[in-house]
Amino acid sequence: MCGIVGYIGKKQAAPVLLDGLEKLEYRGYDSAGMAVYDGKQINIKKATGRLKVLNELTHGGELLPGTVGIGHTRWATHGEPSDVNAHPHFNADRTIAVVHNGIIENYLKLKNTLIERGYKFLSETDTEVVAHLLDYYYKKCKNPLEAITKVMHRVEGSYALGILFSDEPDVVYSVRKDSPLIVGKGKDGNLIASDVPAVLKYTREVYFIENEEIARLSEDTIEFFNVDGETIEKEPKMIEWDINAAEKGGYEHFMLKEMYEQPKTVRDTLNPRIKDGRIVIDELGMTDEEIRAIKKIHIVACGSAYHTGVTNKYIFEGMARIPVEVDVASEFRYRNPILEEGTLVIIISQSGETADTLAALRLAKERGIMTLGIVNVVGSSIAREADKVMYTWAGPEIAVATTKAYSAQLIAQYLLAIKFAEVRGTISAEQVAGYITDLKKLPDQIEMLLNNKEKIQRFANRYIAAKDVFFIGRGIDYAISLEGSLKLKEISYIHSEAYAAGELKHGTISLIEDGTLVASVVTQPDLYKKTISNIVEVRTRGAFVLAITNEENTEIEKAADYVIYIPQTNPYFTNSLAIIPLQLFGYYVAVGKGCDVDKPRNLAKSVTVE
Ligand code: F6R
Repeated sequence: MCGIVGYIGKKQAAPVLLDGLEKLEYRGYDSAGMAVYDGKQINIKKATGRLKVLNELTHGGELLPGTVGIGHTRWATHGEPSDVNAHPHFNADRTIAVVHNGIIENYLKLKNTLIERGYKFLSETDTEVVAHLLDYYYKKCKNPLEAITKVMHRVEGSYALGILFSDEPDVVYSVRKDSPLIVGKGKDGNLIASDVPAVLKYTREVYFIENEEIARLSEDTIEFFNVDGETIEKEPKMIEWDINAAEKGGYEHFMLKEMYEQPKTVRDTLNPRIKDGRIVIDELGMTDEEIRAIKKIHIVACGSAYHTGVTNKYIFEGMARIPVEVDVASEFRYRNPILEEGTLVIIISQSGETADTLAALRLAKERGIMTLGIVNVVGSSIAREADKVMYTWAGPEIAVATTKAYSAQLIAQYLLAIKFAEVRGTISAEQVAGYITDLKKLPDQIEMLLNNKEKIQRFANRYIAAKDVFFIGRGIDYAISLEGSLKLKEISYIHSEAYAAGELKHGTISLIEDGTLVASVVTQPDLYKKTISNIVEVRTRGAFVLAITNEENTEIEKAADYVIYIPQTNPYFTNSLAIIPLQLFGYYVAVGKGCDVDKPRNLAKSVTVE
């Protein structure tokens, strides 16, 4: 997803912009650019490809003199990745430069009106509309702030903007609606950015810009305005993240580092919510009465976050006996869901900015339904807008493919399910105590699995040339299979599919041929026999079967070709363990194939367009 950085201060701007953009690389992008005011005019440099190209083009920023600038990494939405479509975009006189994250939904209508007024467009982007529209209003009112507010009233959709006016050269403007943007208050200047890691090198004091707010930064002042141009007051927040948390720390890839952070992530998400042998989720501010009044839960999310919801449907229903529907957010928002009184909508998102997930949250709120966000990024849109928020304390996740945030999302939902079940009286105090004991063991058990990675690593090396892989499981094991399959395909580009084990024979089994790899997940004791029958079915058709199963299930050695054992835990929590070898499998296959593990092709870390 696009990244924005802006700087105004004592330093040369371009190197600061490049540095900040580098910290936003994880968001995914296909081109990059910068606009810097050199004392006389605004100069723009942009280039398709990695930041390295822009870096070389500008000699590390040296060729763009000046201390005021905006920078951008673009992930194409309107128009292909190209130099001309890359941001920043100019007005015709080159006196206004704009970088943009998001989508201007009514850009075609605006573009046609502007063309009728004589404006000429160089790019295919929706962003260029903003540059020309600013020009149109600025020429009328001669006041940058007023021109910005006028544009805000005209454009529909989502936007975070960084703007330079050469007529007001000692100022950087920024504004947002439904796309993230923060302001950093530094010692040697002030910054804007799409995300905190871009400013951490310079400051920990950060303002979160809310929807339809405007920030005006000079070297030593930061002012905020509403959409009517009236001044508003905002309080900065101190960011506690360790800057090293945003660096690779000795691992070959962020993904591997983040996998190894999972024991800590699980501990951090779990421990503060277990007090004196009880689960306490105070931050929700939910009364027992509210919990008892829940008649139905909808879990809504995208991708891996959705997969954690699929797992937890079994757990909420099994433990708390509350009916649960799980939806992919992009479907939920357009299917006119039946949301009756007594429904709780749980929204799960690492970034807290996923466009479809955010829209699903807003839909539920519009219908007067209570929403609970499970979110990793503090201050993100979902965190701010949900009625109740439970944070996953995974820290910044840089690799595009999620691992530690996924694990934290599972834990947060386990805690909720146990809490709900306890309050509703569907489980006993002994059961609660037993679950807590098992949960507390998970971090060490995950660590043990990570430390024994060689067995799965060796296995992965044999499958670098695989064309198709199938993942099968039943119940929670099916949910684990969904995630195992996604991890493999998104980073190694090997086609894979996950199936409920009993479903394969209804068509897909025709794809099994000699040597096809089938990864089976078999961690639910009451389903061992059923899944083993499915393993036998594919094996007799030539499949090579990997099984991930519990230590006790040695019987499986008779049916599967290669077995990875996970330590004993409650069947509800096996996802947290079984996913570790599957993450490692996907990772080592991708490394073996030489793939760009942390930034897989075509993917973005934070999907802020629908
Ligand atoms: C896959 C992955 C994605 C995200 C999905 C939702 O590894 O990371 O499938 O889970 O894009 O993102 P968030 O959780 O930020 O809403």
